[in-house]
Amino acid sequence: LIGSGAVGQGLLEILRSKADELQQEYGFTARVVAVVTKSRGALYHPQGLDIAQIIAALKAGGLAHYQATAERDWDALRLARDGQFDVLIEASPTDLQTGQPALDIVRAALTNGKDVVLANKGPVAVAYAELRALAAANQRHLRFEGTVMGGTPSIRLALQALAGCRITQVRGIVNGTTNYILTQMESGQAYDTALAQAQALGYAETDPSGDVDGWDAAGKAAILSALIFNKRLDVAQMSVQGISGITAASVAEAAAQQQRWKLIATITPDGGSVQPVRLPISNPLAGVSGITNAITYTTDLLGDVTLIGPGAGGVQTGFALLSDLLDIQRLRG
Ligand SMILES: NC(=O)c1ccc[n+]([C@@H]2O[C@H](COP(=O)([O-])OP(=O)(O)OC[C@H]3O[C@@H](n4cnc5c(N)ncnc54)[C@H](OP(=O)(O)O)[C@@H]3O)[C@@H](O)[C@H]2O)c1
Repeated sequence: LIGSGAVGQGLLEILRSKADELQQEYGFTARVVAVVTKSRGALYHPQGLDIAQIIAALKAGGLAHYQATAERDWDALRLARDGQFDVLIEASPTDLQTGQPALDIVRAALTNGKDVVLANKGPVAVAYAELRALAAANQRHLRFEGTVMGGTPSIRLALQALAGCRITQVRGIVNGTTNYILTQMESGQAYDTALAQAQALGYAETDPSGDVDGWDAAGKAAILSALIFNKRLDVAQMSVQGISGITAASVAEAAAQQQRWKLIATITPDGGSVQPVRLPISNPLAGVSGITNAITYTTDLLGDVTLIGPGAGGVQTGFALLSDLLDIQRLRG
């Protein structure tokens, strides 16, 4: 497990609290053999670590508090190259420009014959085609359900449940922070007040630009474009506009015309964009409020299919990682 912040700990908590249920229902037992962080230490023990103790150590401030036997000097790249494990889980911070350092770690794990599950958007947004080819060449699985809409199964819906349909367009509210701000503005709040509230609630970072300027949504659009339309979108070249230009007056004006502003990522076979759009309130995406996310797949056989659910959160995204692990277990038979 590379990275053990909100998402990594969310997964660990699920593995701990649902261990019996996962064993009984799915014959699934997780053995965590390594945890790596940037500043809070690392643990590696090929026979397995004690998950409850890892959680307690992280809560106490770092993996130095872990009492049982473990090697403590492995970094992520060395583990990916030389560690003994089955699946590498990447839950370190996203870099949408380079995908690094996670991209090299994922490359090393796949080359080393390991399956890979990511919550980190960077490597998938930057190099999906390369990583898919590398996984295929090494007969390994590459999964990344948590990179779009957190634990809500947007990727599995597109690739598995809708297999056989042709998806012609994707439109989504894929950033919860901006949707929260726009929803607050509908009740009369100014943009700055709504942003400050999102920060106070922990939805937006101290530097909120990745969310409010649309870059987080653009990274998700790049992932969806690569996997659904087989087309690489460079986030830096994409048409991306955030919500900072939307005023309380323009929100009120839209409401007077039965419309709502939403930050919409649109992906078609021809490209992708992220723009604030005024949607009629009859549109299913217009009814999605607060930090909730939603995505509409337009298909040839079903028309529009819309999925609504949580788009972030440690446990929610930890669930996405679990769902990928269960998928890999199923595929391995
Ligand atoms: N949070 C969400 O709701 C959510 C939803 C979907 C996707 N994601 C993605 O999931 C990933 C993790 O998110 P998060 O919220 O858990 O982030 P976070 O709380 O900031 O945790 C990041 C973790 O990665 C570790 N880390 C940083 N650089 C590293 C490196 N070079 N090698 C190894 N570990 C490193 C950090 O170490 P320290 O503990 O020392 O800081 C920390 O443990 C991100 O890519 C994010 O975009 C998050």
